[in-house]
Amino acid sequence: MFFRNVVCLLIGLIVGVRLTDFWDYVKLQQLSNNLRENYTNTTHSLGLRLRLTQEDTLADYLFNNTRVLCWIMTMPENHLKRAVHIRNTWGKRCNKLLFMSTKADSFLDTVPLDVPEGRDYLWHKTRAAFKYVYEHHGDEADWFLKADDDSYFIMENLRSFLYQYSADAPVYFGCKFHPFVKQGYMSGGAGYVLSRAALRRFAEVSASNTSAACTQNQLSEDKEMGICLQNAGVVAGDARDAEGAERFHPLAPIHLIPVDTSEWYPLYLFYKRDKNLQCCSRSAISFHYIKPKEFYVLDYLLYELRPFGVANVADTLPGKANMTSLLERWKHEVSDNIFKDED
Ligand SMILES: *[C@@H]1O[C@H](CO)[C@@H](O)[C@H](O)[C@H]1NC(C)=O
Ligand SMILES: *[C@@H]1O[C@H](CO)[C@@H](O)[C@H](O)[C@H]1NC(C)=O
Ligand SMILES: *[C@@H]1O[C@H](CO)[C@@H](O)[C@H](O)[C@H]1NC(C)=O
Ligand SMILES: *[C@@H]1O[C@H](CO)[C@@H](O)[C@H](O)[C@H]1NC(C)=O
Ligand SMILES: *[C@@H]1O[C@H](CO)[C@@H](O)[C@H](O)[C@H]1NC(C)=O
Repeated sequence: MFFRNVVCLLIGLIVGVRLTDFWDYVKLQQLSNNLRENYTNTTHSLGLRLRLTQEDTLADYLFNNTRVLCWIMTMPENHLKRAVHIRNTWGKRCNKLLFMSTKADSFLDTVPLDVPEGRDYLWHKTRAAFKYVYEHHGDEADWFLKADDDSYFIMENLRSFLYQYSADAPVYFGCKFHPFVKQGYMSGGAGYVLSRAALRRFAEVSASNTSAACTQNQLSEDKEMGICLQNAGVVAGDARDAEGAERFHPLAPIHLIPVDTSEWYPLYLFYKRDKNLQCCSRSAISFHYIKPKEFYVLDYLLYELRPFGVANVADTLPGKANMTSLLERWKHEVSDNIFKDED
C-alpha cells in the first residue's frame, strides 16, 4: 500500500513537472509565432528565448531589431525651453538622440551646424543635419528620424510599423502631402523617417555640387526635401494603418479631436481622408505643436496610466513586406486629393 502510494506520487510529480515544461514550451511557441519571423536563424532564436525568459517585451526586442536614430531640429533659444524636455521624455526611447542647432551647448549636447539661423535657412539646416548624421552615425541605426522640437513621437509604434520594411530599400515615411511634388512629400511638422538606403542616396545626391537634384527652390524645408528625395530615387511610402487612418500627424491631438479644426490639413493630405474614419490611428506615431509640459503629460497618459481591467495592445508584429512591389506601387501612386490653388 505504502509502496503504491509512493510510486503514484512519483509518477504524479514527474508528469506535473513535464506538464509545466510543456506548458512553458507552448507559451513560448505562441510568442515566437507572434513574431511571424523565421527563427531558424540561430542568433535570433537564441536572443528571443533569452529575452522572453527575462520577461522582456516585444518592444524591448524591437529596440535592438529596428534601430532608430532621432535628430531634433532646434535652435539656441529653444535648447532649454523645448529640446531638453524631449530628452527627458520620448527622446530617451530613441536608439540615438541628436540635437541639431547652430550653437554648441554643453548641457543639451547639441551639434552646432555651420548654417545661418532662421526660417529661411531651415532647408540648409536639414541638409547639413542629414549630412552630419550620415557621416558620423550612418552605421548606428537602420532608420533616421527628423523631428521638430515641438513634436512628440511614440517610438514603439514607429518601430513596430517600420519592422515590416527593409531599411535597405530607398524609402521614407511620414504624413504624405500632395501638392508640389509628384510622388508626394512628407510634412515637416509631423516628422519623417528615412531608411538607411534613403539616407545614403540623400547624402550622395545632395553632396554633389554638379547635380541639380537638390537645389534651393525657395520652397519650405519639407517640400525641398521631398523634391530632393524624389530626384535621388527615394520613394515616398504610405504610413497609414489598415483602416486608412494617418499615423503621422502635423497637428496636436487637441486640434484633431473630437473634430479637425484646421482648414488646410485635409486639403494637403495625399490620400483623401474618409470622413467616417476617426482622425488618428490607434497605432499613431507622431503629433506636432506639443507644448513642453505636454510631453510629460503624454508620457504619463501613454506609459503609466492604465484603465483597470482593460486589455493591453496586441503583441503581434506585422509580417515582412515585399519591398520590390511596394516601392513600385508607391512610386506610381497618384494623389486622390484635389488641391484647388497651387500657389
Ligand atoms: C526559413 O528560412 C529558410 C531559408 O530562408 C527556409 O528554407 C525555410 O523554409 C523557412 N522556414 C519557415 C518555417 O518559414
Ligand atoms: C541570419 O539573420 C541575419 C540578419 O537578418 C542574416 O544576415 C543572416 O544571413 C541570417 N543567417 C542565416 C543562416 O539565415
Ligand atoms: C540590446 O542590445 C544591447 C547591446 O548589444 C544589449 O546590451 C541589450 O541587452 C539588448 N537588449 C535586448 C532587449 O535585447
Ligand atoms: C562643393 O562646393 C563647395 C564650395 O562651393 C566645396 O567646398 C565642396 O568641396 C564641393 N563639393 C563637391 C562634392 O564637389
Ligand atoms: C516581390 O514582388 C515582385 C514584384 O511584384 C515579385 O516579382 C517577387 O517575386 C516578389 N518577391 C517575393 C519574395 O515574393
